[in-house]
Amino acid sequence: PVSLSGRFKGSFAYFTIKDRLPQILTRVIDTLHRHKNEFFEEHGEKGVEAEKRAISFLSKLRNELQTDKPVTPLEDELPDAALWNQYLDYQRNLPNGNGEPSWFQSPWLYIECYMYRRIHAALALNPPINNFDVFKEGKAQNFFESQEAVIALCTYFQELLKNIKDLEEKQLQEELLKLLQVSLWGNKCDLSFSAGEDSSQKTSPLQSLENMVPYILVNDMEKVWSLLVNAKKNRTERSNIRVDIILDNAGFELVSDLVLADFLLSSKLADEVYFHGKSIPWYVSDTTKHDFNWTIKQLGSANHMWMSRCGINWEGNLKKGVWVFRDHMFWTLPHDFSSMSEVAPDLYAELQKSNLLLFKGDLNYRKLTGDRKWEYSVPFHQALNKFHPAPLCSLRTLKSDTQVGLKPGQGEQIQASEPEWMVSGKYGVVQFDAGL
Ligand code: F6P
Ligand code: MG
Repeated sequence: PVSLSGRFKGSFAYFTIKDRLPQILTRVIDTLHRHKNEFFEEHGEKGVEAEKRAISFLSKLRNELQTDKPVTPLEDELPDAALWNQYLDYQRNLPNGNGEPSWFQSPWLYIECYMYRRIHAALALNPPINNFDVFKEGKAQNFFESQEAVIALCTYFQELLKNIKDLEEKQLQEELLKLLQVSLWGNKCDLSFSAGEDSSQKTSPLQSLENMVPYILVNDMEKVWSLLVNAKKNRTERSNIRVDIILDNAGFELVSDLVLADFLLSSKLADEVYFHGKSIPWYVSDTTKHDFNWTIKQLGSANHMWMSRCGINWEGNLKKGVWVFRDHMFWTLPHDFSSMSEVAPDLYAELQKSNLLLFKGDLNYRKLTGDRKWEYSVPFHQALNKFHPAPLCSLRTLKSDTQVGLKPGQGEQIQASEPEWMVSGKYGVVQFDAGL
């Protein structure tokens, strides 16, 4: 099937490129303006000049987007530039391509990633403000505004830990399913979706889980449980059980992922958890190494007993090496995951060591399935297009118009009464593929 693209007028891709991406660029420019004094205090005139250059680079970018200019090759020499430019050539030569790649004509996934890469260049090429993360404030704000929800979750979890050793298998399963759902719905809290408007978690994340079950369109949670519990039963002294979480947003979602990861270790369903984050600021709220460490520090030094207990334990997990944070350039390339084995064989080989890969969020889902206009009932396995490093599961709320693996008629039925079902973030999937 064809790629989602801004050339389909009226589609969510079209609307995103026309309205939401320029809004995001405008916000980035505002953020730089607001930090002018800070740049001056830190770096003097040089800081202010760098800010001006970055802003003019970004205004130019916004203009290229809004007037549907051809996509230009990257002119910087950052480590991934060559791969980006090769990808542009590949887009140019697509047999059923639509002429010269441009903002509205090319695949949405490609040009949206390209925009974030150009935002990165605007800063990275302008020392001394080259390490400034334009999205950092928003991410921190989302975290603070979700404070109540974070407290509720940490409190629930620390209570659970008190008697986790005495839980029967059935109870353990229930708890896993609960925390999977918290992590799933945590994905509602992303800032690219709301173009940077508030999207924090305000209510207790555990309260309404049951009411939300009907909105999980594909629910493979039991398969995740079976995989983990069987791995636990069959484990030998030397075989470590490893789970990898391919992270999405910082803020409440990240905390929900960390709690899930802690549960996996504390329940002995896993021996180690690898986290994969972004190496540059991405899609407004995606987690970088800095966000990851910052979040754990915030919890550790919080004024709330259970929050700080969580943060301190998690720092311990990192020190002991049972938690590992990794980033890789591939996660911020425009390629879908079916080309990972070719473009980033090292990362593919790394993922093959895992017993289970948990892919968080909408963007990861788009990259898993190639961001295409699939029939809703096409099997997930088919849409993965040979991407099978290990058994995997996507935890995603629907925020873009692509979805596979539904029962025949299921998508059409919802569509009839709720035309916005694929882009409202109200529905979710926990979609598993064994990889065989
Ligand atoms: O445009 C909406 C959007 O920005 C999508 O591009 C993207 O898929 C999603 O929101 C980001 O969501 P998530 O943080 O769940 O990947
Ligand atoms: Mg995101």
